[in-house]
Amino acid sequence: MILGVDYYPEHWPAEMLEEDIKRIVSLGANTVRIGEFAWHLMAPKPGQFDFSFFDHVIERLKANGLKVIFGTPTATFPAWLAKKYPLILSVDENGLRRTFGGRRLYCYNSPEYRHATETIVTALLSHYQNEAAIIAWQIDNELGHEGSDQCYCDYCHTGFQQFLQDKYKTITNLNDIYGTVFWGQTYNDFNEIPAPKPTITTHNPSLMLDWARFRSVSINDYAALQINIVNRLKRPEQKVTHNLFGGFFDRAYDQNILADKLDIVSYDNYPVWGGLEKPLLPAHIAMTLDYIRGLKKQNFWILEALMGAQGHTVIGYLPRPNQAKLWSYQAMARGCEALLYFRYRGMTRGAEQFCQGILDSDNQINDKFLEVKGFFEEIQKEEALFESNIESDVALLYDYDNRWSWAAQPQSHAFDFTAEFVRLHAGFHKLGIMTDVIDVEKDFSAYKVVLLPVMQIVDEALLKRLETFAAEGGTVVFGFRSGIKDRNNNLRLSKNILNTFCGIELGQYESLGKGQSVDILGEDGHHGKITVWRDLVKTITAAPIYRYTDFMFDHYAAVTVNTVGMRGGNVYYMGGGICEETLDRLVQSICDTQNINRLTLPEGAEVVKRRDKFIVLNHTDRQMRIGRTNLEPFEAKVVDAL
Ligand code: GAL
Repeated sequence: MILGVDYYPEHWPAEMLEEDIKRIVSLGANTVRIGEFAWHLMAPKPGQFDFSFFDHVIERLKANGLKVIFGTPTATFPAWLAKKYPLILSVDENGLRRTFGGRRLYCYNSPEYRHATETIVTALLSHYQNEAAIIAWQIDNELGHEGSDQCYCDYCHTGFQQFLQDKYKTITNLNDIYGTVFWGQTYNDFNEIPAPKPTITTHNPSLMLDWARFRSVSINDYAALQINIVNRLKRPEQKVTHNLFGGFFDRAYDQNILADKLDIVSYDNYPVWGGLEKPLLPAHIAMTLDYIRGLKKQNFWILEALMGAQGHTVIGYLPRPNQAKLWSYQAMARGCEALLYFRYRGMTRGAEQFCQGILDSDNQINDKFLEVKGFFEEIQKEEALFESNIESDVALLYDYDNRWSWAAQPQSHAFDFTAEFVRLHAGFHKLGIMTDVIDVEKDFSAYKVVLLPVMQIVDEALLKRLETFAAEGGTVVFGFRSGIKDRNNNLRLSKNILNTFCGIELGQYESLGKGQSVDILGEDGHHGKITVWRDLVKTITAAPIYRYTDFMFDHYAAVTVNTVGMRGGNVYYMGGGICEETLDRLVQSICDTQNINRLTLPEGAEVVKRRDKFIVLNHTDRQMRIGRTNLEPFEAKVVDAL
């Protein structure tokens, strides 16, 4: 099992190396990640390469039995490169070129940066062609993170216009699809089309969606450039990976395309970061892990697991004793099979002075060190278990076009795309049911239940696949606003494409703002609430499950179910953000209909079944009993039976 730390030997006096390595070994680590921000060290001047620092480090790591994951250093480029080629610096939405100083500052479409990337990556890979201690290459670092998915420079602007020309062929076609006749925005030529920098009110929704697609292509093409070089020059047994950041739904970047090109997907798992006063909910963390696993439908690596408070300028919550270890267990339970902690020791200088490592700046063995050591010792005993495949009956389906469509028009002040995913995921998580979070293009025919929160873009091809799935007895659950738009991000001049499938008629709606909710009443007498949105649903062949209760709208349903096909597949429609209690009732009934085994767990518990064992996790700061197992605060265990 690959277990280790992120280590930055270049940050410390040379005489600390030997002791650091000895301690890393005593931690139980077998691997270190190095190099990913050290371009200047490898190329101090234009045309000059010097890998002697890392040659020495690798030699010492090897001498101590450690393996290496090497990061290509392109997330931070040398100052001399920016001085020589100022156009490599990306431009923000207000047209201001970003200043050298932070990181991830480059434009993916800059020919100068692409050339410089080719040069450094080729030199690095060529230099280490015979180095068997390197087990994997990480390309770049968190592509698209921290706002680096966006750049509005001239390269990007003309690249966007070319992207549109390749896609639409003629300007008339684009005008027609975009509906530029509206507000008289008709273009005579592709070179008149703007990049969507700030304007008054808003840009055309089709243009906004295409811009997001273009940004995504830009990142993925840039990543492919590196991956191709690495693949050409690496040793056959070395893996190619990339460490994805959390918060993926907030960026214009479809990571499925990158994942297809990687041998293994890696993730940087930070359940709490920056000024957050408390960590993400366990179900939210679980959802992100299930998404990462879903990218290749394979187990993954974590190249950065946090071990301490983190933040650049503002620092928030300090993980409680054993909580970071618990998160590591959670990650392993949900598909991680190799894990490195960020970072061996916190840095005393530079922008990350407040990102704690395992060791702090006093360089003393501490509780965090012992926590990591304990984790490494325990987890290795279950290597085969954590390498096993994860099976799941439930799929949570997303689609990046749909996500970007919502980003352009959130429609309610209370709308939060990720929260809608967590809402549904949490309903299954609390019952100990594993969910795969996958792109809607992936095959979902083998699942029992598919969940489509806020899938406002639905095309005929997707509808057909869902109809076949339901005809075979599968359960489909739609969230609000489903099916209102086509792939061009436009409304259709017809009834909602899902009406017949859902057995309803969708028409009027209203958004519910922050703090606003409306009451709904179940056919079984249960009182619930919805937030964020409400669709006023007329039932045709569907049965209402909940209705609105307010006088003017009490003849409309809020939640419905339609039974379709020979095998009686159920198609649910939820016309708003339904409250936890209501969702729990629906999820239980869905599980029972589909014969999905569900558990009754205490609040804050998580259970994952892997093969013939269970990983039980206590996410609370209190003692807990799960089945016959007693757990201390933030404790996790692998048990044979519940
Ligand atoms: C990650 C990043 C690391 C480091 C860390 C700090 O997102 O990949 O380089 O910045 O955050 O918490």
